[in-house]
Amino acid sequence: MRLIKTVIELRAILSKAKGPVGLVPTMGAVHEGHIALLKKARSECSTVITSIFINPHQFNIKDDYLNYPKSASKDLEIMETEGVDIVFKPELEEIYPSSYTTTVKVKDLSDRFEGVSRPGHLDSVATIVIKLLNICQPDFVYFGQKDVQQLLMVKRMITDLNIQTNLVSVGTVRDIDGLALSSRNIYLNKLQRQSALGLYCALKLASKLRINGEQSANSIKAEMEKVLINHKLDIDYLAICDPETLDEITYIDKTAIVLVAAHCGKTRLIDNLLI
Ligand code: PAF
Repeated sequence: MRLIKTVIELRAILSKAKGPVGLVPTMGAVHEGHIALLKKARSECSTVITSIFINPHQFNIKDDYLNYPKSASKDLEIMETEGVDIVFKPELEEIYPSSYTTTVKVKDLSDRFEGVSRPGHLDSVATIVIKLLNICQPDFVYFGQKDVQQLLMVKRMITDLNIQTNLVSVGTVRDIDGLALSSRNIYLNKLQRQSALGLYCALKLASKLRINGEQSANSIKAEMEKVLINHKLDIDYLAICDPETLDEITYIDKTAIVLVAAHCGKTRLIDNLLI
């Protein structure tokens, strides 16, 4: 496994790399969710690159950036074990020199839910992802379903900007009790960890109600709210949407996606489920 820090060096290596090339973008703090992406990339590509770059611009709260979990040596160990060929771990200046001014915006998809709760976050994600795609020019790029708004936004951007890559979406990895894996779960204490289960309980309830024939999004959301409140979660948003556009739905007559974001103490968690 090679650890590369500059774009020039990476491009030189990639020009000789055997295709297909797969990219797994990360901010480090690697967990089983990332490992699922790495395994999928390894099974489909001859060359697997993963990037580790904690993008400061996508944190709309400075402390969140400063406190973001960092585990570089453990991350590299995991990547080596998972058979990654190249780790691209640039310094901030390599990606955002002081002269940098460009931002990419995916209208509509980035203006709702996460876009409202974390202003500027999705634009900054779009910008770093397009930079990584341009730098690595992968045949395949891997994203998790847990951050579904990010995933759909990247999908839109790849189509709109004619980027030559295939987006591969990988299902959410959950702990045995259902909690979706997230780098932020380490902030939860024992009690909060129990509360956090409310997200998945509420999503499962939505699925059950839907299977039993409920078609009113409002009725499903009302039942979910009770579960979230019982788990002492502070709801940020709860929505039932079209799974491609994330337009909200009131009457459910085909597969829909339920999105939930809630604060558990100081930790903000998100999850989603198709129903
Ligand atoms: O999902 C993430 O870890 C980040 O948003 C990404 C895609 C690596 C961009 O910084």
